[in-house]
Amino acid sequence: MKKVKLGVNIDHVCTVRQARREKNPDPVEAARVALAAGAEMIVMHLRADRRHVQDADVERVRAEVKGMLHLEMAATSEMEKFALKTKPDSVCLVPESPNEVTTQGGIKLSGKNAELERVIKSLSGAGIEVAVFTDPEPEAIRKVHKLGADSIELCTSAYSSSWGKKLQARELERLQLASFLVKELKMGLHAGHGLDYYNVGQVARIEGMDCLNIGYAIISRAVFTGLRSAVAEMKRLMQ
Ligand code: PXP
Repeated sequence: MKKVKLGVNIDHVCTVRQARREKNPDPVEAARVALAAGAEMIVMHLRADRRHVQDADVERVRAEVKGMLHLEMAATSEMEKFALKTKPDSVCLVPESPNEVTTQGGIKLSGKNAELERVIKSLSGAGIEVAVFTDPEPEAIRKVHKLGADSIELCTSAYSSSWGKKLQARELERLQLASFLVKELKMGLHAGHGLDYYNVGQVARIEGMDCLNIGYAIISRAVFTGLRSAVAEMKRLMQ
């Protein structure tokens, strides 16, 4: 079976740093440790409100860390300009609203989606691989495919919050069926949101899964065990 890559989201290293607005903990150091522990990619979400990651954090990780950088961003012209300047290896376009605690599900698609399509084309044209955060719904996946994205990142929130409950099997099946469609459309298959040390195995074993993006669970565990060990344990559970 193909190895599933791990993207470690280091947003919450910046959340702690922003509590004091000092230099520590340094996301550049976190990126280096995560990669040394076996992560294939560093993930950062630059939000419009800059509540955790700052522009300079992404710029420094890009400039100072050898490794793949994946930027999560809203499909706005401000973020488009930033991505074109900073040149991450890949981006994931996500919905964003000002008062949410975290991303609330996949991107909402209307009839036309002209602005989303424009941003996808612009970033693709600059050689940046583009994923779109999408609910595990066939109609949404087909729309994102038509807009020209390279990959789909399936939103796993519903699966994660159904863990240990009656709905768990159904939510896993939704992810499996959605994954099958993504592969049929010959797109890259990513998944993430709410994945942790208990629920990750079943998602990692979905046929064709290329990459999982995980943040909160890893950074939370790292508080007690250290980041190197928290990343290595997640990698082990994904085999
Ligand atoms: N994927 C996307 C698109 C996200 O917005 C986030 C949260 O920033 C994640 C994955 C990671 O989610 P979590 O922090 O719950 O692992």
